[in-house]
Amino acid sequence: MRTHYCGDLSVELNNQKVALCGWVHRRRDLGGLVFIQLRDREGLVQVVFETDRKALLSLAETLRYEDVVQIRGTVRKRPEDMVNESMKTGAIEVLAEELVVLNRSEPPAIPVDKPAEIGEETRLKYRYLDLRRPEMAARLKLRSAVARSLRAYLDAHGFLEMETPILTKATPEGARDYLVPSRVNKGRFYALPQSPQLFKQLLMMSGFDRYYQIVKCFRDEDLRADRQPEFTQLDIETSFMDESQIMALMEDMIRAVFAEHLDVVLPKPFPRLTYREAMERFGSDKPDLRCELELHSVDDLVEGSAFNVFSTVAQDRAGRVAALKVPRGAELSRKQIDDLGKVAARHGARGLAWIKVNDSSLGRDGVQSPIAKFLSDEELAALLQRLEATTGDLLLFAADRWKVACESLGAVRLHLARQLGLVEDGWKPLWVVDFPMFEEGDDGLEPLHHPFTAPQVDDLDALRHNPTATLSRAYDMVLNGNEIGGGSIRIHRPELQQAIFDLLGIGRDEAESKFGFLLEALKYGCPPHGGIAFGLDRLVMLMSGSESIRDVIAFPKTTTASCPLTEAPSDVTEAQLKELGIDIVREEKS
Ligand code: AMO
Ligand code: AMP
Repeated sequence: MRTHYCGDLSVELNNQKVALCGWVHRRRDLGGLVFIQLRDREGLVQVVFETDRKALLSLAETLRYEDVVQIRGTVRKRPEDMVNESMKTGAIEVLAEELVVLNRSEPPAIPVDKPAEIGEETRLKYRYLDLRRPEMAARLKLRSAVARSLRAYLDAHGFLEMETPILTKATPEGARDYLVPSRVNKGRFYALPQSPQLFKQLLMMSGFDRYYQIVKCFRDEDLRADRQPEFTQLDIETSFMDESQIMALMEDMIRAVFAEHLDVVLPKPFPRLTYREAMERFGSDKPDLRCELELHSVDDLVEGSAFNVFSTVAQDRAGRVAALKVPRGAELSRKQIDDLGKVAARHGARGLAWIKVNDSSLGRDGVQSPIAKFLSDEELAALLQRLEATTGDLLLFAADRWKVACESLGAVRLHLARQLGLVEDGWKPLWVVDFPMFEEGDDGLEPLHHPFTAPQVDDLDALRHNPTATLSRAYDMVLNGNEIGGGSIRIHRPELQQAIFDLLGIGRDEAESKFGFLLEALKYGCPPHGGIAFGLDRLVMLMSGSESIRDVIAFPKTTTASCPLTEAPSDVTEAQLKELGIDIVREEKS
């Protein structure tokens, strides 16, 4: 039906006959002349219907937005003064010789031709129209191209693409499972995979050595702009490689994709920060290095202070008094500073103390602060000196448990970076390494990555003696403040895996019922192995400059995990429930 895509036409085709198929994007009637912009997935082209073909012109006059048509015609170069620089095909137009209306469209429920401010709910309900918008089409085309390059890179490096089950058993990645009832085994459930973690490890045990898969993962968790209940990972596993080798290969892959699709040269190698350094300097385990503001520790300066809020925390080994200097921050209003306090509070901070430096030459007389009166002259001077404060600066302080102090001030840092325009353009990738194996949760130890991650020490006694001091062999790839990938070297010995389960409070029976197959498999010659998974949606979101991962997913869910288009999740019939042996308990509405 067609010879070319609309968006691919150019002056090279001058005077050639073409056949195009697409949608009527816009129409203009200029008395005796009709112009339409014809659109397909590759872009737009102007088609002209001229007076000398009366029947054709009258048919063209009946065209409405989003009618789908076939047009035959001749490409012609536009005169210099008619060239449309804002259009990729703006140097040419197509003189129509034949028009077939393939199908009419009702007035579209959402405008396709103008980027109007349409509510997201409506966009998702009419997603098939929303995806006709050229900017949406461009994002999904980039996604396809990026996936193709990733595959090509991995294929070229000897990785095998393999599939793993979707109806399976729980894989813990820190979220709730989506469960699927079994009809033939009534009362029993499959879990949709939170990741293919255990299967890819089993593939290493089978000797496949280098595996990858672009795969859906399912996590029932609270949704945000960078999270979806089903999302796509580029999942990778290798045997006989250590973390440096895996990281080198993976960053090389990401560099190749950025060079190919964005013409961007990423640094080689990516910088590395330890988890501790990332938290202490940037207040985040996924630091955005596009902003230069850094956190500082001032514990030693306020240990003996009469200001108890600071001194008690400074004396506590589990606490931190962290400070952030904001150049020109003294211009912020009281209300703006209070808002920063709210940002900190949302991350658990008990307070956010501040000092405005109105004139650094005047010492105490030059500052304005609700806490200055609690600080001695020496303490105040030492703080100003440590932070190299100068006139016009705002100093912010969080005194709390180490993690709360880091993260709350880190959130304030990011908030200010956006508010004051302190985020540079460009790309700042890095690796975060040396994560702790565990953190203290409400019910004891929890893994920071997942429970299959290897510790840096192999000594079981040392591990049992001081688990929270043990670092893991995990690594995260971070880009502009987003975690785009995470992985680790895995445990490949059964007794170590068992010891980790013990430390996590997973009893022998529970370990056996949940992961018995893994513990068994580890006994039969498991190779040392490790891997990583990238969030493909997040990667493409960043590469396309989108605000949300929903913009790079064809049919995403809303923040309440529903789909306005299909209205999933939906009710099922009594018959289906009966067949599955399920009774729904409906809560009484009061
Ligand atoms: P992890 O849980 O860190 O690791 O996930 C890997 C990457 O997947 C992306 N991601 C998500 N993207 C969108 N929506 C979500 N809900 C979501 N959750 C995670 C992130 C993240 O970096 N099995 C391990 C990997 C491994 O150890 O090899 C895993 O799944 O970009
Ligand atoms: P208060 O004595 O509680 O009124 O606190 C005096 C100042 O210290 C206020 O500006 C509080 O926001 C601040 N503040 C209180 N607790 C903390 C904390 N844990 N870290 C930093 N600042 C705090």
